[in-house]
Amino acid sequence: MKIAELFDVHGLATIVTGAASGIGYAYAEAMADNGAHVAMLDIDRAGLDQAVSKLKAKGGDVRGAMVDVTDRPALRAAVDEAARAFGRLDVLFANVGIDSAPGFLSMAGERTIEGAFENVSDERWDKVIATNFTSVFTSIRAAVPHMKKNRQGGRIIVTTSVAAMRSEAIVGMPYMPAKAGVAHLVRQAAIELAKFNILVNAIAPGPFITNIAGGHMRNPEVAKAFGQSVPLHRVASTDEIQGAALFLASSASTFVTGAQIIVDGGVMLGRAD
Ligand SMILES: NC(=O)c1ccc[n+]([C@@H]2O[C@H](COP(=O)([O-])OP(=O)(O)OC[C@H]3O[C@@H](n4cnc5c(N)ncnc54)[C@H](O)[C@@H]3O)[C@@H](O)[C@H]2O)c1
Repeated sequence: MKIAELFDVHGLATIVTGAASGIGYAYAEAMADNGAHVAMLDIDRAGLDQAVSKLKAKGGDVRGAMVDVTDRPALRAAVDEAARAFGRLDVLFANVGIDSAPGFLSMAGERTIEGAFENVSDERWDKVIATNFTSVFTSIRAAVPHMKKNRQGGRIIVTTSVAAMRSEAIVGMPYMPAKAGVAHLVRQAAIELAKFNILVNAIAPGPFITNIAGGHMRNPEVAKAFGQSVPLHRVASTDEIQGAALFLASSASTFVTGAQIIVDGGVMLGRAD
């Protein structure tokens, strides 16, 4: 099979959460640039308008919907509305996520007061779990009935993190179990939905330059510090997620389900020289 055919996403109907920025936007761009119909969901009205306009200007068939993914009825309505508008739903990218900084150690390796276990507030815990974990379940639950109607099934892609697989001192407490929970949710959903040819997989990024944590990675000093723990000696730009995303959305991955594709520059391998 020709590469263009193998990775073809032309005509697919897809929804992405957290689409106004970062990894979600990069996914929306890769899908729209390659002829998919894309519904972009985000809580940030201004950012979403800008992102949608940018992709429309390139000829993309994209639509934006402002939604808070922690609002279950609103999220379900947004998924239903996109599927209705497209007449189908082929791929869900449940990507949204927020940081829960600070961790118990600062970048300089010192203990922080705010990140200490006993100082994690109920509000911080609840918000991160609702956004990073529960919303993934809610969006998959909303998407599945639409995908079950498809003769050829569907694709669900979820953004986890290297934090789903290992402890990280500089990352805030609630983020870690939220991502680990999402990774296991992917496996459980994959086994249940296999019968319907709905493939469920995760992408686990390492450090990417996005707006997460107030866009701290855009600060060259911070990026450099993060890059030192990466065997490839740098942090990633968001377009470096597009290959894995296109793989999981296309015919290139018809026998892949319950997997977690690690896109981390080698972080999981440990510290290099
Ligand atoms: N950037 C990294 O280094 C990194 C590493 C590992 C995993 N991730 C994961 O990647 C995913 C995307 O994050 P990113 O780095 O692109 O961040 P980002 O901040 O650039 O993008 C996240 C988007 O989600 C939106 N959002 C936040 N809360 C929302 C809500 N309640 N409802 C709807 N939209 C909401 C934001 O407005 C933003 O547009 C997250 O799940 C994150 O945990 C990022």
